[in-house]
Amino acid sequence: MLLNQVKDIMTEPYYSTEGCLIYNTDCFPAMKRMSNSLLDLTVTSPPYNIGKEYEKPILLQEYLEWCGQWITEIYRLTKRKGAFWLNLGYLNVPDRAKAIPIPYLLWDRIPFYLIQEIVWNYGAGVAGKRFFSPRNEKFLWYVKDEHEYRFNLDDVRDPEVKYPNQKKNGKIKVNPLGKNPTDVWQIPKVTSGKNRASKERTPHPAQFPVSVIERIIKVSSNEGDIIFDPFLGSGTTALVALALKRKVIGFELKSEYCEIAAKRIKDFLEFKQIRESQGILFSGHELSGEAKYLEIASGD
Ligand SMILES: C[S@@+](CC[C@H](N)C(=O)[O-])C[C@H]1O[C@@H](n2cnc3c(N)ncnc32)[C@H](O)[C@@H]1O
Repeated sequence: MLLNQVKDIMTEPYYSTEGCLIYNTDCFPAMKRMSNSLLDLTVTSPPYNIGKEYEKPILLQEYLEWCGQWITEIYRLTKRKGAFWLNLGYLNVPDRAKAIPIPYLLWDRIPFYLIQEIVWNYGAGVAGKRFFSPRNEKFLWYVKDEHEYRFNLDDVRDPEVKYPNQKKNGKIKVNPLGKNPTDVWQIPKVTSGKNRASKERTPHPAQFPVSVIERIIKVSSNEGDIIFDPFLGSGTTALVALALKRKVIGFELKSEYCEIAAKRIKDFLEFKQIRESQGILFSGHELSGEAKYLEIASGD
């Protein structure tokens, strides 16, 4: 099994369970040890070089070079029909731009084929004084082969259809599973704060919302596929991948974040086991919305 191959060439994982390996490591040298064409899907958000608590800012050119290098490694590790979903924000470039979208700066350093840019529009954020208040980040959807890639649209259709009974030539026009969710995703951010913290919130300062990752993993992979996140943080990618019956490998530089990720996964597996012992099969749909699962995953 492919995960065992990875286990054999790496050092001891920080945490492992069936179908899941988490390493407390610098992702770039670790990726270099892995063999070609191993991954079906990578979903990740790297540091943006903006001075967050988990990064030391470096010169812009160095940062772009580093991004080009690890992305090229991901290309090598990805199977022919595989995909790469990259979440990126904005950077201040003195004398040029207050907030330049990082994808503009990386355009010629990414060997993948770009299918689409998804706008992730979230409700809360900082207030702009001499500019519009920022409310979006981008998810760039790349594939290795522009002709053959997964797009499991029926697994992610949006059931909120305005006119479900609309007909064309006497036939219902709308797909009964719902509509295409479009390239603008309105999904709340994981928020902090005493009264407004999201249920899924962990102490990690830049956590992915479960719902965004759920949509990406469902649309771009199948059960049993290998999912990878080289900047795992609080472990959202790993958690969602496991819940959706995929296998997962995650790398994270800080041990305290590995610990958060491991705890979220252990709590989730415990919850799943309790549900199954009650005869309730875990289908993965519990991931969305206000499900009990989220409270458990955030350790409430
Ligand atoms: C934007 S956060 C990812 C958050 C994650 N998506 C989540 O849901 O929690 C980036 C993460 O990359 C980690 N990191 C930074 N440099 C790294 C490196 N060279 N190798 C592995 N992880 C690294 C940081 O510690 C941080 O947790």
